[in-house]
Amino acid sequence: MSTAKRMDLLGSETAFAVSAEAASLASKGTKIYPFHLGDINLPTPISVIKAAQVGIDNGKTGYCPAPGIPELREALAKDVGSARGLDYGLNNVSIQPGGKPSIGKYIAAMMEKEDIVLYPNPGYPIYESQIEFYGGIACPYGYINTPDGLRLDFDTIENGIKKGAKHIFYNNYNNPTGASSPDKEMERLAKLVIDNDMFLISDDAYFDTLYEGNPKSIASLPGMYDRTLTMYTFSKKFAMTGWRLGGAIGPEKIIEQITRLNVNMESCTTHFVQYAGVAGLKAPKEETQEILDELRGRRDMLVEILNRIDGVEVHSPEAGFYVFPKITELMKDCGFSDPEEFRKIVLKETGVSFCGRHHFGRPLENETDYYIRLAFSGIDKMDLEEGMQLLNLWINKRRN
Ligand SMILES: Cc1ncc(COP(=O)(O)O)c(C=O)c1O
Repeated sequence: MSTAKRMDLLGSETAFAVSAEAASLASKGTKIYPFHLGDINLPTPISVIKAAQVGIDNGKTGYCPAPGIPELREALAKDVGSARGLDYGLNNVSIQPGGKPSIGKYIAAMMEKEDIVLYPNPGYPIYESQIEFYGGIACPYGYINTPDGLRLDFDTIENGIKKGAKHIFYNNYNNPTGASSPDKEMERLAKLVIDNDMFLISDDAYFDTLYEGNPKSIASLPGMYDRTLTMYTFSKKFAMTGWRLGGAIGPEKIIEQITRLNVNMESCTTHFVQYAGVAGLKAPKEETQEILDELRGRRDMLVEILNRIDGVEVHSPEAGFYVFPKITELMKDCGFSDPEEFRKIVLKETGVSFCGRHHFGRPLENETDYYIRLAFSGIDKMDLEEGMQLLNLWINKRRN
């Protein structure tokens, strides 16, 4: 029996493979320090849990409308709209089982074969996978490391546009780099999208995980409302990664097509979970503030520890769950030239588990530096500190 050829084009989220590797070591007795996955080891807010229980008790266990229950579509339209200064209604929202499905569904609904699609690389690996699976040309754009943090590499974006790119994925507050766009950068990108008649998918997975100030969306900039599809997820803000709840928000024409795909793919998102989502959106702010405060503490601790290690360069991310240190010097000092070999040996010898840059899109030809991604969402402060101590000891031994 042979599998369909198109399966050769499908990529993966290889951070899950690192998880499996770590789990296998754990089952043999190694203590693992889990910095590899953007999962959260904090409880889902109580209002959300209670609403799911009430939903089950009230029999919300059957099918529901393919675009989602009206209460959640309305609540999400209001929440996403007010946070971005935009006017969305129920018809602008299609509820999804998580954030991820909106990526493939946008591509399936809007991209023709051989369309050029720009996507961040390093970036969330599912963009590259879905573009190629549906027969598009995945055109990567990178980042430039500046003293103020990583910034979009406009040369690579403009090159893609010159080749005729029609769509662009943009993940401001980026996974894995932690990069966020200052106003000018976002305005420059919006201008390119408008001037070149493109469409943008704004992956807002970490929009609500900004540690200071108010988050900004490119959809709010003049001329972008009709050119942006926002990918929303409950996973990160509400510590709901396993609940699978999210939504696509944007122009009605696209939302209608995405909903047709819902009917074909999963019929609807789990009924009672949608009531839990409504409760989350209406819950007192303190419930999510607790999550944010804990994550901020971990971020500060991790950045401070990493900054003390020779050969490591790190920026503190404004939002999200990840730090993305440059470890070029460190790898050299420890005698490594292969980042995957480095990662595997560190995992085996210390239990400290993280991903490399290569888990976030195929590395670009001109890259000379090495980076790793450390997630601080799934590890408490005590283990974070202990894991970093072990890593530091291991580094010192390798250097001698
Ligand atoms: C940038 C980005 N987009 C999308 C997702 C997918 O979110 P979800 O787990 O809600 O499907 C993630 C999850 O880690 C992410 O980091």
